[in-house]
Amino acid sequence: MLQDWKNYQPLLIPNIPNLHRMDVYEKNGGYEQLKKVLTDSEYSPEKVTNIVKDANIRGRGGAGFSAGLKWSFMPKPDGGPRYIAANGDESEPGTFKDRQIFEYNPHLFIEGAIIAGYAMSITAVYVYIRGEYRDWINMMQKAVDDAYAKGYLGKNILGTDFSIDMYVHSGAGAYICGEESSLMESLEGKRGYPRVKPPFPAQKGLWGRPTTINNIETLANVPLVIKNGSAWYKAIGAETHPGPVLYGISGHINKPGIYEYPTGMLVSDLINEVCGGVRGGKKVKALIPGGSSTPPLRGDQLEGVRMDADSLRTAGSMMGTAGMLILDEDTDMVDFLWRVSLFYHHESCGQCTPCRDGTGFLEKTLIKIKNGEGEMRDLDLLLDLCTQMEGRTICALADAAAWPVRYTVTRFREDFEKRVKNTVYALA
Ligand SMILES: Cc1cc2nc3c(=O)[nH]c(=O)nc-3n(C[C@H](O)[C@H](O)[C@H](O)COP(=O)(O)O)c2cc1C
Ligand code: SF4
Repeated sequence: MLQDWKNYQPLLIPNIPNLHRMDVYEKNGGYEQLKKVLTDSEYSPEKVTNIVKDANIRGRGGAGFSAGLKWSFMPKPDGGPRYIAANGDESEPGTFKDRQIFEYNPHLFIEGAIIAGYAMSITAVYVYIRGEYRDWINMMQKAVDDAYAKGYLGKNILGTDFSIDMYVHSGAGAYICGEESSLMESLEGKRGYPRVKPPFPAQKGLWGRPTTINNIETLANVPLVIKNGSAWYKAIGAETHPGPVLYGISGHINKPGIYEYPTGMLVSDLINEVCGGVRGGKKVKALIPGGSSTPPLRGDQLEGVRMDADSLRTAGSMMGTAGMLILDEDTDMVDFLWRVSLFYHHESCGQCTPCRDGTGFLEKTLIKIKNGEGEMRDLDLLLDLCTQMEGRTICALADAAAWPVRYTVTRFREDFEKRVKNTVYALA
């Protein structure tokens, strides 16, 4: 059940000045949950995993997979190193929420990652941050240094026999390095090529050792669950997709920004009440709900649609990263789609033919249509290309490139037909 969202008090980024500082974080109950799990014998690693599983924290990095369930895939400790790769690559167009955590509440994430580390007997956490985020990388490094100075990281934390290290790693500007297996390749110092799965990271991850990859926001939810319990967490927002979410809202709206609310918010409330409506009082033509790879919905498809996995699936899209892009009635969807396709073509790593060539053909065909040189059959060609790409490649970048094309062409076909009909080819 969604509570009265207008009285919602942010949990991930509460309105506390200077919360990024260790002294302020500690004064507000920071690191108490870590102390609890490490010193209270009731909290075995299995119990912590089960609490997180029961809370149903769903991954905030795009796929919405249960965090606790993912943790439970890790094999039993064998005395060797085990890793968490915390994913702050944040390169999907329309997604800009993890950087708010780095800036305003980095210790919540660090505490969550250490608790996750305890639950999975992890020896080191790698925090992978996109290279363009230089300032945020520095902020995170400072927070990690402060956590070491206070003894929350390093050897024998809080006098227990649990030890864990944390390293901040800068990416080098490739979207593909946000995909979990290429992120690991990149961390290992290699070119960011996705790996063929299986083996999955829990079996063979970083340097061949068991590894769990979680998004930054996902891990920031962990101390909230440990503090208040899974029943409390499950009562926030949508029943099957609970918890607080950082909605990153951009595009043709009056007040773009990052807003923290529960999952399951009505799209119309977010656009009209939270963001002050569409610029110039115009109508919504399209909503891209969770980053550029999620299928666009038409403005007239949005009534009653809520921002959670089930509601968006029923409507014909996905929650993704909750990076909502709003396009107004004057938007030309051909231009929009060409720009999105240019991105995916540029970012394909080139290992798989359907992706390497498919993203190129998509972009070329869209340029042709955009320039008024398209034929009606090019619309079918675009859809055929999507069919050749979806589910046929090593990683999901090919799907991420195909979905916007498939659903923009089918749901906004009139924009494409208009461009095509205006050409000599279509008239001949
Ligand atoms: C091409 C591509 C790019 C991705 N980029 C990111 C990213 O920037 N950040 C992220 O958290 N997940 C990204 N993902 C998803 C990750 O592979 C992985 O599912 C996620 O980090 C798992 O964390 P979660 O379960 O906590 O969401 C990407 C996936 C693909 C296919
Ligand atoms: S799908 Fe694309 S990005 Fe992913 S491995 Fe294949 S070529 Fe590379």
